[in-house]
Amino acid sequence: MGSMTKAPIGVFDSGVGGLSILRGIQQLLPAENLLYFADSAHAPYGPKGDVFIQNRCEVIMQFFVQQGVKAVVLACNTATAAAVTLLRQRYTLPLIGIEPAIKPAAALSASGVVGVLATSGTITSDKFMSLQSRFEGEVKIITRACPGLVELIEQMEPDQKAIKKMLHGFISPMLDLGADTLVLGCTHYSLIRHLIGEVAGADVTIVDTDAGVAKELQRRLAAANMLGNSTHTGVIKFFTSGEVEQQNKLLQKYWGKPVLVASILTKS
Ligand code: DGL
Repeated sequence: MGSMTKAPIGVFDSGVGGLSILRGIQQLLPAENLLYFADSAHAPYGPKGDVFIQNRCEVIMQFFVQQGVKAVVLACNTATAAAVTLLRQRYTLPLIGIEPAIKPAAALSASGVVGVLATSGTITSDKFMSLQSRFEGEVKIITRACPGLVELIEQMEPDQKAIKKMLHGFISPMLDLGADTLVLGCTHYSLIRHLIGEVAGADVTIVDTDAGVAKELQRRLAAANMLGNSTHTGVIKFFTSGEVEQQNKLLQKYWGKPVLVASILTKS
């Protein structure tokens, strides 16, 4: 498999959220070539239901396979909950999914109350419910779907006040119930971590999955003898199913550096 070391790694999300994961990967594995696919024409995934999301994941996987990827990261909690089990039955390449970081949050919480912010798709999934039940004896877990929040994060210039007001509505009831630790169970939310921190207050610990996913990817690639070993920094290519000029601006805004985005017209 030595020849696979140079092959790219596919990373995808419904939109810009997965950039938080992409950053973690780039920091830990700078030699890897990365392909980022934002399924912007179909965001948000949260309220869309399993079958729709499974179909989108299948289309994106086929695109990545055509591109010759050696591994794929589902940089989306909602897509992982809906589709990773199915994709693992269909594809043999390493697939790294992501789920809300309840385990580290439970270990960090002093009050014994953990709040989870995620999409409705994640919170109502069997996968999440079984994760939650594993920690129920240890901590009290309060979940909160955040309808409308991903849509605001996907905007080029969202009203910061509107975001904070919305966050306040989601977070305050959790704090009232004693939560001292908040899990960001949707990759989009990591992009506004600073605002979540401001609303929650300095006493609340915020936990996400960004670094954990990169480490798991590293472990899986090493086990398959597929880790990139170039001494050069890898190349990152961006793709979107959305409107290319708009996505170019949006991806650049959150990535923080110029990006070149190619448009991919994918059909479900
Ligand atoms: N970023 C995604 C997640 O981690 C989903 C956001 C959405 O499309 O609803 O769940």
